[in-house]
Amino acid sequence: MLKAAVLGATGNVGQIFVQLLENHPWFEVTTVAASERSKGRTYGEASRWRQTTPVPEAVAQMEVVDISPKAVKNVDIVFSALPSNVAGKVEEDFAAAGYVVVSNASAHRMDPDVPMLNPEINSSHVCLIEQQRKNRKWDGAIVTNPNCSTTVLTLPLKPIYDKFGIKSMIVSTMQAISGAGYPGVASLDIVDNVIPYIGGEEPKMESETQKILGTATEPAPFKVSSSCHRVPTIDGHLEAVFVETEQEADPKAVAKAMENFVGEPQTLKLPSAPEKPVVVTWEPDRPQTRLDRMEGNGMSTVVGRLRKDPVLGGVKFIALGHNTIRGAAGCGVLNGEYLKVKNYL
Ligand SMILES: NC(=O)c1ccc[n+]([C@@H]2O[C@H](COP(=O)([O-])OP(=O)(O)OC[C@H]3O[C@@H](n4cnc5c(N)ncnc54)[C@H](OP(=O)(O)O)[C@@H]3O)[C@@H](O)[C@H]2O)c1
Repeated sequence: MLKAAVLGATGNVGQIFVQLLENHPWFEVTTVAASERSKGRTYGEASRWRQTTPVPEAVAQMEVVDISPKAVKNVDIVFSALPSNVAGKVEEDFAAAGYVVVSNASAHRMDPDVPMLNPEINSSHVCLIEQQRKNRKWDGAIVTNPNCSTTVLTLPLKPIYDKFGIKSMIVSTMQAISGAGYPGVASLDIVDNVIPYIGGEEPKMESETQKILGTATEPAPFKVSSSCHRVPTIDGHLEAVFVETEQEADPKAVAKAMENFVGEPQTLKLPSAPEKPVVVTWEPDRPQTRLDRMEGNGMSTVVGRLRKDPVLGGVKFIALGHNTIRGAAGCGVLNGEYLKVKNYL
């Protein structure tokens, strides 16, 4: 078993890491780290566990330690679920101390020598680790996931991009409250309400989509416009997507490309890889957030309402994915599995 530390283990994403790694065939959580508020307490006390499965007994008894390489000793991989303003320097300290860090934070996502992996799409970008080690003179590495809404979006975009080309695309999101961390948005702000603004989200969706769908060194050239909105659902980001394609794209042919789409995680049979990264439904009123977010154990994007777009000339559809699983910890665990089989750990 490989030993894993979770930084920010008490937060929303940190708890999902702990949950997904319980009974994982390759990784075992041996260290949990968080802020001064939690340090020195048991994980069971400090986490205020909010998941529907019980807190794993062994982890509940662990003492929460500092988020420093001195306190986190003797692990093979570090999963980071820290806020971005904290993650930047801390993740660099871990990489400099020789650790491989798989991060959910945005701090290093757009660094040119940091792979931002949504591994069905751009696992080849892992080659940037060599460049990173040379540039930064460290033996460890930082690998990130994309932002949650981008992770969900890029899975169905990839087969469209490969088969039909993309000239431009527009996306309008309906994002769950858990995307804002814990305690997140005040209940009096979000119950009976939609907030048409999520700080920093729109530029992230635009630049991250281009980085993931590009080569390791060149972003994809198509234009992306996003509008991001917080809605009163708990988990699951729903997105209305409008794509202008290079070539004529019939909705049935697009659906076929999506359904046949697999990446390296599927061919390598990684433990967290969903059988189908993209699941297409033809039900007229699906996907729905509450009913469909757990498709593929929360690791698939569900696409529905696939139809011709009369304005852009390509297709439009609804995409749904689980923001704290596929959009965060689940993608992190999948990246960890990929790094293991590629001998980076
Ligand atoms: N939620 C999502 O859907 C989602 C999706 C993709 C990416 N992300 C990213 O994942 C990261 C974590 O998000 P989250 O939603 O889990 O946030 P969260 O619920 O607010 O959790 C934050 C975690 O970081 C710890 N922390 C906060 N400040 C710290 C400090 N100064 N020093 C040490 N530890 C500190 C907290 O520890 P205490 O409990 O001790 O305070 C907690 O464990 C963020 O970068 C976020 O942008 C989130």
